[in-house]
Amino acid sequence: MSNQPINILAIESSCDDTSAAVISNGTVLSNLVATQKVHEQYGGVVPEMASRAHMQKIVPVVEVALKEAGISKSELTAVAFTQSPGLIGSLLVGACFAKAYAQALNLPLLAVHHMQAHVLAHFIDKPHPEFPFLCLTVSGGHTQIVLCRSHLDMEVIGETQDDAAGEAFDKTAKMLGLPYPGGPLVDKLAQAGNPHKYTFPISDIKDYGFSFSGVKTAVLYFLQEQKKNNPAFVEENINDICASVQHTIIQTLLRKFEHAAKEYGVQHLGIAGGVSANSGLRAGFAEMCAKNGWQAHIPQFQYCTDNAAMIGITGYYKFLNGDFADLSVSPTAKANWQ
Ligand code: KG4
Ligand code: ZN
Repeated sequence: MSNQPINILAIESSCDDTSAAVISNGTVLSNLVATQKVHEQYGGVVPEMASRAHMQKIVPVVEVALKEAGISKSELTAVAFTQSPGLIGSLLVGACFAKAYAQALNLPLLAVHHMQAHVLAHFIDKPHPEFPFLCLTVSGGHTQIVLCRSHLDMEVIGETQDDAAGEAFDKTAKMLGLPYPGGPLVDKLAQAGNPHKYTFPISDIKDYGFSFSGVKTAVLYFLQEQKKNNPAFVEENINDICASVQHTIIQTLLRKFEHAAKEYGVQHLGIAGGVSANSGLRAGFAEMCAKNGWQAHIPQFQYCTDNAAMIGITGYYKFLNGDFADLSVSPTAKANWQ
């Protein structure tokens, strides 16, 4: 192999963020994220609008990512993109762009699994986790405990049976009349509330599984009941409600994660995905690791929520492994990486 740096242009378009990044030899040179505002008024992501917004944004976002990185097209080594999972129309925009770009510049293509990329976001900043590494990935669509034996050898040892942790945050926010995406707002309000004021059930699914549909229903019935007696209940108690629901979600996650870490005997643990931006989860996770003498890895905020830098770092390890895709590759809405 030559001494030329490995410069990867990475594209992420699985949901409502249009993102492009440039990674050089595993170091992030730029990471641009254009979050689509069009969905706010609908209380959730509207797939067709997301695809259209990706089409409008992808060219300018890539141009700025290259400019900020100070890398020209001719200096690129490969193009990485999110192949799965996600909204199919949104994935198609990123995949078509990446394929066309790679073909025009005669560059190899790297097809990346979004959930694997959330885990590998831990290998952007140093110190990197050591293997075996156990990662709790908590996003808007997934909740998984992933055992990593190496960068690309990963196994999902437990996941949610129904809603994801992010959905539990977003649906709670919706019931409280907060705008989408509700997770960050629940986090903010919870900081001024009492997490022990109200009690909601903590599910206990077999092995390392999770369930969040029960807490959602419990919150719904609780609010209906309270509002019968006091129509202003939500407005008067919103901080305590947010803090109590958040506490329940965090306890559900951390009890299982701690159990899994003990059973697998790992020393290095991490949290990843959009919900890992939650201040309560970050603090609770750090405390759990300190108590057990484990090494806690918590990514910077910008690498928790969807971003192309994590696609780029995954592409980098795939490149080193010679794991290239050809132009016949298609995106898929749902797929395992194994
Ligand atoms: O990983 P991500 O950006 O997108 C997916 O792949 O789904 O995760 C988005 C999810 C949303 O449910 C959002 O409400 C949640 O992450 N989220 C948070 C916080 N920031 C983002 N949930 C709780 N607290 C936060 N601070
Ligand atoms: Zn994600």
